[in-house]
Amino acid sequence: MHPAFARSPWFGGDYNPEQWPEAVWDEDVDLMRRAGVNLVTVGVFAWSLLEPEEGRYEFGWLDSILDLLHENGIAVDLATATASPPPWFSRAYPESLPVTADGVRLSPGSRQAYCPSSPQYRASAGKLARAIAERYGKHPAVVLWHVNNEYGCHVARCYCDESAAAFRRWLEQKYGTIGALNEAWGTAFWSQSYGRFDEILPPRTTPAIGNPTQALDFERFSSDELLACYLEEKAILREVTPDIPVTTNFMGLFRGADYWRWAPHVDVIADDLYPDPADPDAPRAAAMARDLMRSLGGGRPWILMEQATSAVNTRPANAPKAAGQMRALSYQALARGADGILFFQWRQSASGAEKFHSGMVPHAGTGTRVWREVEQLGSELAALGGVMGTETRSNAVLVFDWDSWWAIEQRGLPATSSYLSLVARWHAALTDAGLTVDLVPGDDDLTGYPIVVVPSLFVTTDAQAAAIDAAARSGSSVLVTDQTGIVDENLRARLGGYLGELQSTLGVWIEEFWPLTGAWARPGGIPVAESATIAPTVSVRGGVFAGGTSTGAEWTEALHLHDAEVEAVFEGGALDGWPALTRKARGEGAAWYLATRLDRDGRAALVERLIAESGVRVERPLSGDTGGPVESVRRGDLLFLINHGASPVVVEVDGTDVLSGASARGITLGQHDVAVVAVSVVGERSPATAPIVGASAQNA
Ligand code: GLA
Repeated sequence: MHPAFARSPWFGGDYNPEQWPEAVWDEDVDLMRRAGVNLVTVGVFAWSLLEPEEGRYEFGWLDSILDLLHENGIAVDLATATASPPPWFSRAYPESLPVTADGVRLSPGSRQAYCPSSPQYRASAGKLARAIAERYGKHPAVVLWHVNNEYGCHVARCYCDESAAAFRRWLEQKYGTIGALNEAWGTAFWSQSYGRFDEILPPRTTPAIGNPTQALDFERFSSDELLACYLEEKAILREVTPDIPVTTNFMGLFRGADYWRWAPHVDVIADDLYPDPADPDAPRAAAMARDLMRSLGGGRPWILMEQATSAVNTRPANAPKAAGQMRALSYQALARGADGILFFQWRQSASGAEKFHSGMVPHAGTGTRVWREVEQLGSELAALGGVMGTETRSNAVLVFDWDSWWAIEQRGLPATSSYLSLVARWHAALTDAGLTVDLVPGDDDLTGYPIVVVPSLFVTTDAQAAAIDAAARSGSSVLVTDQTGIVDENLRARLGGYLGELQSTLGVWIEEFWPLTGAWARPGGIPVAESATIAPTVSVRGGVFAGGTSTGAEWTEALHLHDAEVEAVFEGGALDGWPALTRKARGEGAAWYLATRLDRDGRAALVERLIAESGVRVERPLSGDTGGPVESVRRGDLLFLINHGASPVVVEVDGTDVLSGASARGITLGQHDVAVVAVSVVGERSPATAPIVGASAQNA
């Protein structure tokens, strides 16, 4: 099943009938039909019921459920049920329980209590996956295999002895000799040279900062180890049912697993995402996660496997989604390439740890706002068959890389940074300007995108530097921001002025870092005098910015020129008069370097400059004070317009809103309103005065 084979977008959710008496099941399928549900995920946490004791399987209830669903025309994404080993397993194999960096062995009694390297876990999970595949592989309801659940969600890293042994095997395969490992890890520092692989441990809690490259390799190993769990189950499923596609649910912008390495092994990319309804910026971060999912599949449609109809129960205070908010976020996923909108979960649980997490059928039943919104969305999606399999058009690209994520958040750096926020700011600046953004790991071909942004690519490989250079030479406007090209893939500093090979692309080099966070005001600092606190922001002066100035925060760098032009300088502070923003004409394109972290207005101004210089045409047929993020995304022949902001916006395209049937010109979208417009021709304006309305150029 490629998702495009369905007649309309998949709609449904996790269905856990084992939590309910059989009497409820008939009502469930009746309501599913009423809501237009066409796909449910079954059995994710059913291991203890399917295999109540080792090797004894009880499938009767699952047989009945699959038959019932099939009789009612509802397809099944069937789980291998391996996400939560049952109590008998933990009792029989206590060494399979995960261990923290501090040496604490975690207890069973919740879920995911297993070490990904545990041979007992792998063997038992494999047996269960095989039993399920053999029993249900020919069941007509089953259209998709759902392996495990959210790999690494709770235990992304295990530090037990089994993990240590697996880590050593992984290292031996990577480095071949202990000498090569010592060289890569720089173990001459602090007397860490290893004589043999079996001296090596996971980066458990140490007296001082551990070896950074060891820590990075452990991140890579741990992601690979989770992937190996998935691949073992997938191989079994493929062997038994070669024609049923296999998925596992990702978790958006998840630090624990390098999804670039996973994606080629996942037939249908699937994502779980729970934006905080109370956070006005959450739709921006969600947009980035959706763009990542589309990009992981190389532009293929993906499935939103889980979201909440309303509140979750994982935050200190859990706001419900306001009227229309669930629908708006669902359309955001659809616009950005999803061919399915599913929820956790169908019926809100009455017992257990997540009973206060919303469901499609709430505790209060069907006489509720949530249920009415579920029914509305279901009926709308049923009429949107035309969107299936179509491509979301992008015109900018952002480099997003797990090695840099892991490395820039280690200890012992010039300043602490949140990689996600560094990248997300630029994603938001691009999408706020009306661009649609792909994400790439950086060593892919970047040419063909009018705009390329490389935010804080701390670890830059030679291949990434070459791809970035090739993009500029071939005509892209490339923007590289602070802390890029600081180290190579072994975390060895790029000598001779940082940036490495990118120096020739950008025409600059970096002498020294000058972070702005007030060091003495920090915990552990000694506040001797007011003057010891470093100003947390600095002025940046340049013609790019409205009124000629902007503000930089957190970070500055002492930047020297080779052959770039200065576009803005620092004003005041330690680097008064030094370059803050540079540009170098490179081949057919341009390479910009930004040595600080601009505020939102500054980023917006710079993006407008990139749009103007690259000539990319931007779709943004909106007017009025948007008062917050308003999205306009083109997918196939449809333009999705979503108002996440508080103020109404007016849509100015000629076309028909396929949801309401109304002519789109002059339609006012209130908060959380959505229009899906079949667009004809629209006008154009210059980006210098207003964003252009029209078809996007890239990938068109
Ligand atoms: C994750 C899990 C689900 C459930 C939800 C709750 O996505 O996969 O089982 O716990 O979170 O938000």
